[in-house]
Amino acid sequence: MEIEDGLREAHAACTLGLEEALAAELSDLGYADVKAGRGGVAFRASKRGLVEACLWLRTATRVMELLGRGPADSREGFLRLAAALPWDRWMRVDQTIAVDATIRDSRVSHSGFAALVLKDAICDRFRMLTGRRPSVDTDAPDLPLKLLVVRDEATIWRDWSGESLHKRGWRPVQVKSPLNEAIAAGLLRLSGWDRASVLVDPMCGSGTFLIEAAMWAAEMAPGLQRAFAFEKWPDVDPAMVRRARASAAARAKSSIPARLFGADRHPGAIALARKGAEAAGVGHMITWAETAVDAFDPPEPPSMVVTNPPWGERLGEADDLIVSWMDLSRWVRKFPGAGVCVLSGDPGLTRHLGLRADRKWPVMTGPIECRWLRYRIDARPPRGGDFEETP
Ligand SMILES: C[S@@+](CC[C@H](N)C(=O)[O-])C[C@H]1O[C@@H](n2cnc3c(N)ncnc32)[C@H](O)[C@@H]1O
Repeated sequence: MEIEDGLREAHAACTLGLEEALAAELSDLGYADVKAGRGGVAFRASKRGLVEACLWLRTATRVMELLGRGPADSREGFLRLAAALPWDRWMRVDQTIAVDATIRDSRVSHSGFAALVLKDAICDRFRMLTGRRPSVDTDAPDLPLKLLVVRDEATIWRDWSGESLHKRGWRPVQVKSPLNEAIAAGLLRLSGWDRASVLVDPMCGSGTFLIEAAMWAAEMAPGLQRAFAFEKWPDVDPAMVRRARASAAARAKSSIPARLFGADRHPGAIALARKGAEAAGVGHMITWAETAVDAFDPPEPPSMVVTNPPWGERLGEADDLIVSWMDLSRWVRKFPGAGVCVLSGDPGLTRHLGLRADRKWPVMTGPIECRWLRYRIDARPPRGGDFEETP
C-alpha cells in the first residue's frame, strides 16, 4: 500500500530535437504540467505515474524525479544540500550509488568534483545512521543520481529508468546504426503517421521504424520486457509495480489495422529485422522483403514512407550511396499522395532526392546533427524531367 503518493517534479530526457514528440506523448498519457525544454520535457507525476512513464514512454531515454534543489556555489553548499535530504528513504546501505554531474555557468566548474562531494555527503549520512557506507557502482548502480548545476543552483535527481529506455529488452544485440528505438519512436510521431494506414520502410535495415510502429499501433508498452532501477528501491511498492505492469500488459492488442512493409537489399539486415520483430512480439504484424529499393513492389501502396537511407560511409563508397538515394527518389515518386519522411545526416546526399521538404526537424543522432525531412509526393502524374520513369 502506498502511504503517500503526491505529485513530484519529474523530467523525461530525450535526444535533442525530439522534445516536441516526447511532450505530445506525455500529454497523451495524461501527465500534468508538461513543458518541453532542451533535451527533455518537464512534467509532474505520482510514483505510480513515474513507473508508468518508464513503461510507456517511447521517445524518452530516462525518467527522473527531483529530490532536492538549492544554492551550491561551494563545497559547503553541496554538502548542506545533500545533508538535508533523507537518503535512507531512497536506498539501503547495502545498495550502490553513482552520481553523474553536469555543470554550466557556475563557480564550482568541475563536474567530477561536484559528483564526488555529493557521493561523500550521502556516504557520510549513512555512516552516521548505520556505521556503514554504501558503495559506488558506476556501471549498474541501484540508485543512479544526476546532479545538475546551472548558475550555482543545484538540482539532484534520481533516475527511475536505470539503463537507457531505448533498450526495450527485445533486441539481442544492439546494432550499429544511428537510429535507436527511442529516436525511431520520436521520428514516427513527428511524421504524423496515423497508426492505421500503410507504412513502408524500403531501406529498413534491422527494422527499427517498423517494429516501433507495430508496438505503438498495438498499444504495447515498450518497457514491459525489461527491468528498471526503481524496482530495487525501498520506497517503491512492488505490488504497485506489479499492478502497473499487469494493466500495461492487458492493453496490448494482438492485431492492428495498419499494414507494415519493410525491405532491404541486405539479407543479413532482413534476418535481423525478422528476429527483432519476433522477439518484440510483432512478427506477425510486419511483412519483410529482401530486395533493393528499385525492385521493391510493396503489396499495397504506402500512405506513409519512413526511412533512414545510408550516409556517412567510408570514402570510396560515395557513388554507391548516391545511387541508393537516386533509386529511393525514383521509388517514392511511384506513390502519388504519399507522405515521405527521411532521416539524413548529409545534405549532399539529400539533394539527390530532388524533392522539396515541407518540414525539417534537426535531430541529434550521436554527435551528428541530422535532419528529419518530410515530403509529400505530388498527387498529379509526373510531367517528365530527370525523375520520370522510363518504360
Ligand atoms: C542506415 S541503414 C538503416 C538502419 C535502419 N533504420 C535500422 O533500423 O537498422 C541503411 C540501410 O539501407 C540499406 N540499403 C542501402 N541501399 C539500398 C538499396 N538501394 N535498396 C535497399 N536497401 C538499401 C542498407 O542495406 C542498410 O540496411
